[in-house]
Amino acid sequence: MDEQTLRNQVVIVTGASRGIGAETAIAFGNAGARVILAARTTSDVEAVARRIRENGGEALAVTVDVTQSKQVERLVCSAVEHHGQIDILVNNAGQGKFGKVAEFELASWSTVIESNLTSLFLCSKYVLEPMLSRKSGQIINVLSVAATTSFSATGAYCAAKAGALALTRVLSEEVRKENIRVTAVIPGATHTSFWDGMDQHPDFDQMLKPSHVAEAILSVAKQPLGMVVEEIKVAPPLGIL
Ligand SMILES: NC(=O)c1ccc[n+]([C@@H]2O[C@H](COP(=O)([O-])OP(=O)(O)OC[C@H]3O[C@@H](n4cnc5c(N)ncnc54)[C@H](OP(=O)(O)O)[C@@H]3O)[C@@H](O)[C@H]2O)c1
Repeated sequence: MDEQTLRNQVVIVTGASRGIGAETAIAFGNAGARVILAARTTSDVEAVARRIRENGGEALAVTVDVTQSKQVERLVCSAVEHHGQIDILVNNAGQGKFGKVAEFELASWSTVIESNLTSLFLCSKYVLEPMLSRKSGQIINVLSVAATTSFSATGAYCAAKAGALALTRVLSEEVRKENIRVTAVIPGATHTSFWDGMDQHPDFDQMLKPSHVAEAILSVAKQPLGMVVEEIKVAPPLGIL
């Protein structure tokens, strides 16, 4: 199969300061892509960008809260100013907060919905302008098995990821005729700092590694132009943990 080369492709990865996003940014960097790493913690996102540059890759770190419209607009503008185009957006940033509906605070609800769903809307909206004008691009959304499977005490997270899956499918319909491909990557439990501070969690040894999810994202990005992988589920061998 004629895989797409990632060399010189301009890729924005959100939530690139650690976990799945950091592994994905590093993997794109190693593949020769020009990577723009976005997250809120400047020192962490710069450290990952530095690692890519030390490996001989090209990386730019941008401090951005992807729930904030103006900051996302600035992120996209600086990527276009720097590289002239955006080939791939990986919408990966997201936070989990858990609790039963009866006890859940509105502030936690808003954090989860905004970081997992509103962010996906904002980043997609702003990258679409340069992508539509070139009639070329790829948007890869990192969702979760929580988009389609319900667990107790995960109301906000399941609602956000189910909404994000619906938005991914709508977006796909809206832009497929413009030669823009949209993919939902649906990972199962992955051993990252996502689980920090949670009293109850599955066995870390049985979870995916962030590099597994990064590999799935890169395989989607490399698919030939004549096809689109619309949804891809990546699970630990034991499935839902
Ligand atoms: N770990 C799992 O089991 C699992 C399973 C399925 C899906 N996922 C999904 O995979 C994605 C990555 O998760 P992870 O496991 O790698 O989590 P993680 O280790 O907690 O990393 C989350 C990343 O998102 C960034 N982020 C969070 N809120 C942000 C905001 N408002 N603006 C910009 N960046 C923000 C964080 O950076 P800053 O804090 O520096 O901003 C960090 O880089 C998430 O969408 C998550 O829902 C995770």
